[in-house]
Amino acid sequence: MSEWDDQYTLKIYSPGRINIIGEHLDYNGGDVLPMPIILATQIQFAKTTGTTYEVESLQFKNMLRRELKDDHISSVKWHNYIIGVVNELLKILPNKIKGFRAIINGSIPVGAGLSSSASLTCGLLRGLNGLFDLNISKKEMALIAQKVEHHYTGTPCGIMDQYAILFGEKDKALYLNCHTLEKKLIDISLPDYQWVLFNSNVKHNLSDSAYAKRVQETAIALSIIQSQFPEYTHLAKVPLGSLQIWKKKMDDEVYKRALYVIEEQSRVEQVVLMLTQNKFHALGEILYQSHYGLSSLYNVSCVELDYLVDVTKSLTGVLGARMMGGGFGGCTLNLIEKTKVDSTVEMVCSKFKDQFKLECTPIRL
Ligand code: GLA
Repeated sequence: MSEWDDQYTLKIYSPGRINIIGEHLDYNGGDVLPMPIILATQIQFAKTTGTTYEVESLQFKNMLRRELKDDHISSVKWHNYIIGVVNELLKILPNKIKGFRAIINGSIPVGAGLSSSASLTCGLLRGLNGLFDLNISKKEMALIAQKVEHHYTGTPCGIMDQYAILFGEKDKALYLNCHTLEKKLIDISLPDYQWVLFNSNVKHNLSDSAYAKRVQETAIALSIIQSQFPEYTHLAKVPLGSLQIWKKKMDDEVYKRALYVIEEQSRVEQVVLMLTQNKFHALGEILYQSHYGLSSLYNVSCVELDYLVDVTKSLTGVLGARMMGGGFGGCTLNLIEKTKVDSTVEMVCSKFKDQFKLECTPIRL
């Protein structure tokens, strides 16, 4: 079994995502504006008899075979997404999950900040939901997928990726309040502009530990504010003025993290307005501001991403750019005039190569 074939009865196509604005806001109870993309994980499923499952990844050229109930963590990272999904489903529907076989293929580059992992967990959940008639809602799937990241891979992620992948629609951004989970689809028709990603193809080791550290630092900022203002339940929704009152009580790093979160929340609100008013140049400027905050206040950028953003500033036709996703590598998101996309791609890739002796990969959305 190493190719797509007719023995499979169900095929799921689970997209990756970009995020227009609202980075690192999901676990701070803020608003985000992600959108599914054409790059996706494809998974085929078939029922089998017995109490085992067998999942093959064509991308990793690797196979996982397990007893359904075996929940010990694997040393192979991608296995743990599968093990987590199967075991979380067994906990809530112990009699419904039976033996199965699946084969995974995908076009989402791993570690590029395009949510290949949430695409996998959400795709698995949708597939098993269909295969065994589980009747699980999309919201439940999103929460299970998040739990899998927390408990089986140790990433204390927010809920943005799972919601974008399960509720997103083509050419629409999902305006999601990550605290209440209220959501609204916003039409994004850009007749004259195009979103383009530059994948730096780097992923610095720091990314996992630094992500967890940002979750902690922002929780500390909130608890300091709550010691006087318990009514503020989420850092992203604290007014800037209240943060200033607490500045002296926070160490410098914690203050910078909180400042970034509060400013980024205001940028999301501005971008939503700009999209409805077709103010794309102003929106581009906000992308640059977001990158500045991510790089100098939240400290989740890296030299390669800073370079990819900076290099666009002198190119006419680029409205704005910023790093995207968790950080420390992966992609930048760029808003470019359609007629200038080819020349921009050529220029950015060649400058990046001169600077780092590395190829960056453009992805036109
Ligand atoms: C990763 C996490 C998300 C979110 C982003 C940053 O993609 O999985 O929950 O926090 O980083 O916005």
